[in-house]
Order: sequence, then structure tokens, then C-alpha cells
Amino acid sequence: MFYDRERELEKLNEVYSFPGSSFLVIYGRRRVGKTALVREFLKDKSGLYLFVGEKDEALLLEEYSREVKERLSDYLPSYVRLDFKSLEELVEFLLEFSRERKLVVVFDEFQNFRTVKPSFFSSLQRLWDEKKDGSNLMLIAVGSYVGMIKRIFMERKEPLFGRADEWIRLKPFDFWTAWGFVRSLVDINPRDFVGLYSALGGMPRYLLYVPRYYSGDSVETLWRLFFDEFAPLREEGLNVLKLEFGRFYRAYFSILEAVSLGYVTPKEISDKTGMKLLTVGKYLSELTNHYEYLTREVPVTENPLKTRKVAYRVSDEFFNFWFRFIYHNYTALEEDPERVFERFKSEFPAFVGGTYERIAREFVKKLDPGFKPERVGRWWHKGEEIDVVAYDRENIALFEVKWRDLSPKDARRVLKALKRKAKLLPLRGNYRFGIIARELESKEELREEGYLAFDLDDVIHQRPFTPSTSQGP
Ligand SMILES: Nc1ncnc2c1ncn2[C@@H]1O[C@H](COP(=O)(O)OP(=O)(O)OP(=O)(O)O)[C@@H](O)[C@H]1O
Ligand SMILES: [Mg+2]
Repeated sequence: MFYDRERELEKLNEVYSFPGSSFLVIYGRRRVGKTALVREFLKDKSGLYLFVGEKDEALLLEEYSREVKERLSDYLPSYVRLDFKSLEELVEFLLEFSRERKLVVVFDEFQNFRTVKPSFFSSLQRLWDEKKDGSNLMLIAVGSYVGMIKRIFMERKEPLFGRADEWIRLKPFDFWTAWGFVRSLVDINPRDFVGLYSALGGMPRYLLYVPRYYSGDSVETLWRLFFDEFAPLREEGLNVLKLEFGRFYRAYFSILEAVSLGYVTPKEISDKTGMKLLTVGKYLSELTNHYEYLTREVPVTENPLKTRKVAYRVSDEFFNFWFRFIYHNYTALEEDPERVFERFKSEFPAFVGGTYERIAREFVKKLDPGFKPERVGRWWHKGEEIDVVAYDRENIALFEVKWRDLSPKDARRVLKALKRKAKLLPLRGNYRFGIIARELESKEELREEGYLAFDLDDVIHQRPFTPSTSQGP
């Protein structure tokens, strides 16, 4: 059953409603749900789904001709010949056909044309420029290798440069959509779900393993998904990323591994990997801007363009987990998976804590803390850190995030420490303090005193709470 993707479908339908032709690119990492999305979109439209397999042009054309006959022959007089001799002939036909009626054509794994017929990109450009104006063709290029797709459409010297009218970058489900998706398939408690989400992220394909593998215990489930000899996701990172980076994948992998292990500044990464700082900088910039596998973070009070205080993190929860626990232990996993798993078990709670902080920041963005925050993020300075800072010109809300069950006494201690750290912040205004814990025993009491007190129960149900008073630092 197809789940969500409402905004993407809305966007696709909007483009569909435009008169004339449009060229739309859908890209996103492997397994994120691109094919499922376009198939859902095509369900109630006249359109063609054409998969670009890495085959001979002639073999592809055989498939495409069959698809065209099946879908479009009703609209055509029987004397029209639908056996195409070249990809160019096919495209010309599609542009002609759509003069009379709207037609959607999807090329899935579009980047594969590069090996099928490299000259096709420039002939497509020529045909498109020449004929699109009189036609009503919605051409959708779907691509899995983010780097390659961007190169094809964004590099100046490439024939299709500037031809894409619209872009959809398909991202994994956010935490709440992933929760809704999994809950529609299997009975699971929120705590276990956060644990599994920290490893699987919002990837529909991986979340589909949960109903089959969830045993009532998230750590056990991860053993069977990632560590066991026949674990289905043990090789997944390699399978998905190797082709993306091509020949030089090892250097990219080393950097992703270092970041997942907590070496997050260029200097730390350079020390860890033994690569020169200059080289690290080049890879970091590529991994961030071009491939989008890393995210560059700065303390929330800093100007992102000016500050030198940067920290990188692996953008995708799945890759973060995979590099941290699987790739990092590759050899040991071959020899003694049990030992690797024992160590994993002791490190996992802290790892989930990191994921919970990111979830908490998203939660705060959706929350109304009594004002509309202009920025929400993490803050750090010389070894001090505040998990969530949300602020506008007058108001500041600070949160400590704990992946633990807090007793009333623990909660007081956490708030006290938070107030001390608040004095280090370069922000002036009305301060509010809060906690986002796994479970918070004294939640009601704290709220009555004006604190922003939440636990997983609120987070997972997105239950907001607006306090009445604020406290000074
Ligand atoms: N919105 C969704 N609702 C339900 N299931 C989904 C959804 N999106 C994807 N899936 C499922 O997840 C799996 C992976 O999706 P899909 O094959 O569409 O990904 P993809 O991005 O095309 O991946 P690849 O790059 O490997 O081709 C499929 O089994 C699909 O049915
Ligand atoms: Mg696909």
C-alpha cells in the first residue's frame, strides 16, 4: 500500500496541470521511493513508464515499443507504425503525439543513458528545444545517483544543462511519517521505534523490514537486520554508495566513517583519516553540496556563511548507523560478529540519544513555545553544548534532550545545569527552559512552574504545550 508523499504528489499534479511541456527531474538516493512515487502518480493518467536498463539500445526500444503500443494505440489510427528504430525516433514520436493530448513519460534511472547511448543526451536536447513548444509532454527523468544526475543537468558543458524546469529531491520520510507508516503495518512501542529509526531512518524500503524482523526488542531486531551472517542490510551501504562514488569510493567512505564516529571538524577528520587538510576540505565540500550525504552545521547563534565553527554530520540516519557500526567493524564482523555486537550493545543507547536530539529539534520546530522562532538548532562553544536553542528577537527557549527516564530530582538537576549554560549564550531576551526526555515523571509539576517539559509521549504524538510564564536566566 502506498503511504503519504502528499506534498510530492501535489507538486507533480501541479506541474501536470501546466499547459505545454515540462521537463521534471526527480532525484534521491537509492531505495528512497522514487519509482513507487512515479508509479503512484501515473496511476490515473495517460503515461508511459520506461525503465532505462543498462542494455543495448535495440533491446530497450523493443520494450519501449511494446509499452507505447499497449498504452497509446487506442488513440492512434492503426496505420501508425510503432516500432522505433532509435531513441531519437521514439522521443520525436512522443513529442508529436502530445501535440494533441497531455502525455506523461517517465524515464526511470535516466543516468543509465550514459552507458546505453552517450549521444542521446544531446539529441534529446536538440529535439526538446525544437519541439517542446507545440507539445504537451511532461517528461520526468528519475535518477538514483545524486552526483550523476546533478552533473547531467547542472554542469554547463553538458547538453541538458538548464533544460530541467522543475526539481523534486525526494527525501526519506520524516520521523512522524515513518512512525505512521510502520504503525500501519505492525504493533510496536514508541521506544523501540526510536531505536529502529536511529538505524533505518525514514527509508520506506528499510522500514518495510520492521513487520518481518521486529521481535519485540529493538536491539535483537538490529542484530538480525545488520550483524547476523545473513542480515539483509549488512552490505547495503556498500551496495548503494559504491556506484555513486565510482573508482575513488574509498576516500569518500573514510570521511563518512570518520564523521559517523564523531570526528566532525575538518581538523579532526584530517587527523583521523591521515588525509591532508586541503584534501579533506575538498571532499567535505563535495559530500555536502554535490552529493548531499553530509550536513554542515554551525552553532545556532552564528552566521553560517562567516563562522569558522563548523561541524559535519552524516545526513541520513541509515548511513550514519551503517558507517558507525557496520563499515567501521567490517573485518571484525567477518571474524566474530558476536563480539562486535556486544560492543554495539553498550554504545547503542548513546547513539540513539543523538538521534533523539535531532528528532527533538524537529519537534521544537513544530512546537509553539509561545513565540515564532526564527532559528532552531544546536549551540556549542568550547566543550559546552545546548541541545536545542530556539529564538527570535525577544524570546529564547532552551532545551536539554535526554534519552533517559528522569526522576523529579534528575529533572531539577538538568534544569539547573541548563540555566548555568544559558549565561554563556550571546543572546538577550526572555528565557524559557525546557526538557525533552524519554520519560518525565514530574512533567505536570514542571509545566505548572512554566517549564517546557516534554517526553516521548508528547514528541511521538506531536502534542504541543504552551506555557504561561517565562523565567529569567
Ligand atoms: N510512499 C511509499 N509507501 C509505501 N511503500 C513505499 C513508498 N515508497 C517506497 N515504498 C517501498 O519501498 C521500496 C523502495 O522503493 P522504490 O523502489 O520506489 O525506491 P527507489 O527510490 O526507486 O529505489 P532504487 O533507487 O533502488 O530504484 C519499495 O518496495 C516500495 O514499494
Ligand atoms: Mg527505482
